[in-house]
Amino acid sequence: MENPYKNHFHLEPSKGLLNDPNGLCYYEGTYYVFHQWNRFNLDHSYKEWGYFTSKDLLNWEEMGTALLPDTLEDAYGVYSGSALVSDGNLELFYTGNTKFDGLRKSFQKTAVSSDGKTFIKSQSNLTTPDEFTEHFRDPKVFKKGSDYFMIVGGQLKNGQGAIALYSSDNRELWNYKGVLYTDSSLDQMAECPDLIDYGTQQLLLVCPQKRNLAMDFDESSYSGYIIGKMKKNIFYPENEIRPVDQGFDFYSPQTFTDKKGRTIMIAWMSRMNTEEEKTCPTIDFGYIHCLTMPREVKVVDGKLIQLPLLEYQDAFIPSKESYVMEYVLKKEAAMMLEIEFYDLESEFMIDFFLQTTTLSYKDKNLSLCRKSWANNQFSEKKMNLNGLRKLQIFIDQSAIEIFINNGDAVMSLRYFTKNKDIKIKSSKRFKITVSKKEI
Ligand code: FRU
Repeated sequence: MENPYKNHFHLEPSKGLLNDPNGLCYYEGTYYVFHQWNRFNLDHSYKEWGYFTSKDLLNWEEMGTALLPDTLEDAYGVYSGSALVSDGNLELFYTGNTKFDGLRKSFQKTAVSSDGKTFIKSQSNLTTPDEFTEHFRDPKVFKKGSDYFMIVGGQLKNGQGAIALYSSDNRELWNYKGVLYTDSSLDQMAECPDLIDYGTQQLLLVCPQKRNLAMDFDESSYSGYIIGKMKKNIFYPENEIRPVDQGFDFYSPQTFTDKKGRTIMIAWMSRMNTEEEKTCPTIDFGYIHCLTMPREVKVVDGKLIQLPLLEYQDAFIPSKESYVMEYVLKKEAAMMLEIEFYDLESEFMIDFFLQTTTLSYKDKNLSLCRKSWANNQFSEKKMNLNGLRKLQIFIDQSAIEIFINNGDAVMSLRYFTKNKDIKIKSSKRFKITVSKKEI
């Protein structure tokens, strides 16, 4: 049976369950995207690192396994982490998850490769600082000056989410520097932290997770960003935490610097709850979940700006351009719609696939509604917007990324329907360009 949900420009595994992107880097002429992977089942019972490689960030090859849970310190999962290219080697930093007598224990571990194919684990096993519980994971390593820093997400013993800081001058011996940042907005656990240094300012990415609620914690976690300044091992926020992506499916983003010096972010394109995960239609085809497209991120005037990579924009060739108030089309395999508004307050509505998903703008409110494939209920994501100038909508076979007003906001979502109808309507004339990518 042909798979109608198979994406053409979103990375997904040929089999098994994929979650967080890990170890993003550029090493010896090749881009690497490692990822959390359960190669055996479509659940979270097993975690290793799989990986994809690319020469151009656009065409990717699935490579298979990089790291297996084959030591005492990672026997219950090779959890998330990052990469650093140093001394001609590709170094991976990850969390070894274990259970001793049924109790969780975490180790921050290292593996090194000199060919980008074989990853040798080192003996180092960094244990958790006293003030943290064993919910301590996802090391992100970066270099600043001649020093190396590692940040690790975790939970303080008082139950609050927090990020730990380490430093090192050799990447083998790490000195614990204390808590980089904690705040009640980090809920009960800070997953997948990342810190991007813009010199005078730093951008902190973190996924606050609620752990002690009766509700499904998957749904209450989200990916947030905080802009601030790191001074003497402490991060001082300059704004409150804000969502990185305003759509339905976005979690655990990670960044790296590409060969052109751009900061590029890729995230796990899922925030499915257990019911949605269990009924996800790709299960029939032996795999589940995908990653977002790579995005360029910048901080402009105290705000996070996210842009589709030029490589992706250029891969979509314009086929039609119209100036209309209404437009109807059929989805094709890999499409991009660019919609430009002449009146920023035009009322606007785009109906995807017989209203299983709709995006509408009215009275400064942008609303994204999606019908769940699990229970047919509608959920809504809303944001306030000071005028709608431009939408750039990338439509893959089961993934949509909507870039709003040149990267001011992004809404990402998975969808599963075979219907191909797209209807667009506005109160004023707009310009639409339909582009397609060769597949
Ligand atoms: C985030 C996360 C990480 C952890 C990994 C395990 O989605 O829970 O904190 O390292 O997934 O797969």
